[in-house]
Amino acid sequence: MIGILRLTHDLSDAELLACLECDDSSFVEELHAAAREACAQQYGKVVFIRGLIEFTNICKNDCYYCGIRRSNSKVDRYRLSKEDVLDCCTRGHAMGFRTFVLQGGEDGQLTDAFMCDLVSEIHRRFDDCAITLSIGERSRESYQRLYDAGAQRYLLRHETATAEHYARLHPKALMLKHRMNCLQDLKEIGYQVGCGLMVGSPFQTCEHLVRDLRYIKELQPHMVGIGPFIPHHDTPFRDYPAGSTDMTLKLLSLVRLLVPGVLLPATTALGTALGDGRERGVLAGANVVMPNLSPLNVREKYSLYDNKLCTGDETAEQLEKLRERFAGIGYQVAVSRGDSLLTKNSN
Ligand code: 5AD
Repeated sequence: MIGILRLTHDLSDAELLACLECDDSSFVEELHAAAREACAQQYGKVVFIRGLIEFTNICKNDCYYCGIRRSNSKVDRYRLSKEDVLDCCTRGHAMGFRTFVLQGGEDGQLTDAFMCDLVSEIHRRFDDCAITLSIGERSRESYQRLYDAGAQRYLLRHETATAEHYARLHPKALMLKHRMNCLQDLKEIGYQVGCGLMVGSPFQTCEHLVRDLRYIKELQPHMVGIGPFIPHHDTPFRDYPAGSTDMTLKLLSLVRLLVPGVLLPATTALGTALGDGRERGVLAGANVVMPNLSPLNVREKYSLYDNKLCTGDETAEQLEKLRERFAGIGYQVAVSRGDSLLTKNSN
């Protein structure tokens, strides 16, 4: 099966299901090895670095899994000013970052006027950098304005490609169809697009994961964010178990083999769940890490799940440590913009 996947970059749904259900260690190791090779063929043994700026934890949504959901009154809410964000970029640029990821909740104050002004100012001051946005669902017109202002990449996880499952993770106001339309709009506008999912979210089955893989194969996103679900103590899902890291690693490998040119982050959630999660992710086919560039005093307030890493080796200040850790497994850290090979649209 791995041979076919390697050659054709596809498998039937039944075969994908068999891969997900098999935990024979020699099979899993072969799958990770094939994914690593496919990644090295495309990108070399390189890990791309993005500076993550979590600039607001205010959110109008009430997703049952998420620590910064609207109903969580225990969150100390913050929104960084334009100057604060620009300061993060200045610090990050000096450290070598050439991509900034502006991530936040669906904060009503992030109007097109505010965001376009912020994006165009970052674009003006750091014209050698790529700007990635991750600020949720917006209208097509809004996405177009932000693109015209200089944002070229957008991350919006689909969370699950099965509508009934989506409805068990989100209140009625959120709909999978709408989320997928947003991703389609973003793609058509010309963004490099990232979708993604949590592994082991409550009620998830392997059949759901097969549908996720099929959706990813069809959408052909430039990036896919995959991390384990980790419960947050102030959410309705507080008592559900964390997602499996082995299953997360297996999915990384399958996505790498289905869409070889994709950019795959070894996510913060994987790094939180496993001490050596970043390295294990890279050894399963991931090739991006997103160290935190947010100001230190707000970091712990962006608490999507319990014990989320925000200090130590994972932070931007510790870039050198990260370099050493990846050198230890034979990988180099790249400071270039690291555009996806799936796009010609790399301006
Ligand atoms: N565990 C893991 N990932 C989470 N996210 C939100 N809450 C959790 C959680 N409890 C992920 C979602 C979202 C991204 C920003 O963080 O997939 O899209």
